[in-house]
Amino acid sequence: MDEKLLFFSTFLKNPKEIGSVVPSSKFLVNELLKCVDFKSAKYIVEYGSGTGRITREILKRASPGARILCFETNKRLYNYLKRSIKDKRVTIINDSAENIIRHLKRLGIPKIDYAISSLPFSNLSYKKKITIISETEKTLNRDGRFVIYQYFKDFRKYLYEYFSNISTKFVALNIPPCVVYICGK
Ligand SMILES: C[S@@+](CC[C@H](N)C(=O)[O-])C[C@H]1O[C@@H](n2cnc3c(N)ncnc32)[C@H](O)[C@@H]1O
Repeated sequence: MDEKLLFFSTFLKNPKEIGSVVPSSKFLVNELLKCVDFKSAKYIVEYGSGTGRITREILKRASPGARILCFETNKRLYNYLKRSIKDKRVTIINDSAENIIRHLKRLGIPKIDYAISSLPFSNLSYKKKITIISETEKTLNRDGRFVIYQYFKDFRKYLYEYFSNISTKFVALNIPPCVVYICGK
């Protein structure tokens, strides 16, 4: 099935989980990855890989020795990712982002350099939002970055509880337009 059709039909079945009718635009993907220093990044984690729009761009830019972990809860999209992304640097995990620490321990990964999220945070419970943000803060290297995009405005208040260095960028060329948050400790 065509990528966009798969995305849209999965959204129709699980609107809250998917959170968007179309995959991210190339403008948004570029904005999300602008702050990533791919030369030095060894461990990159992606939350909510969907049909792999961001994953494929990470793989184009990442070094041969990098390791990329992708979390995707939707079984249909997880199966699509497993079928369509064949790269030994990638591990695709059918689990929620909130369990990141458990998976890093299992895989013997101490700390990560970047976490890139396209999770529909506005549809997650307060507890889940906070768990994902706090667990990510714990797993990031001192110079690591948590990069997120969101459609709702007051998301910053959740991030400020865990990150002191936050910058934002508005991306108009996406459906819908959104804000990218780049968070450091
Ligand atoms: C807005 S889509 C983004 C898809 C893709 N990254 C893109 O940019 O086109 C959000 C994705 O997050 C996944 N998702 C939702 N909650 C999740 C969670 N707690 N952990 C991991 N993935 C989740 C959904 O199944 C969906 O594929």
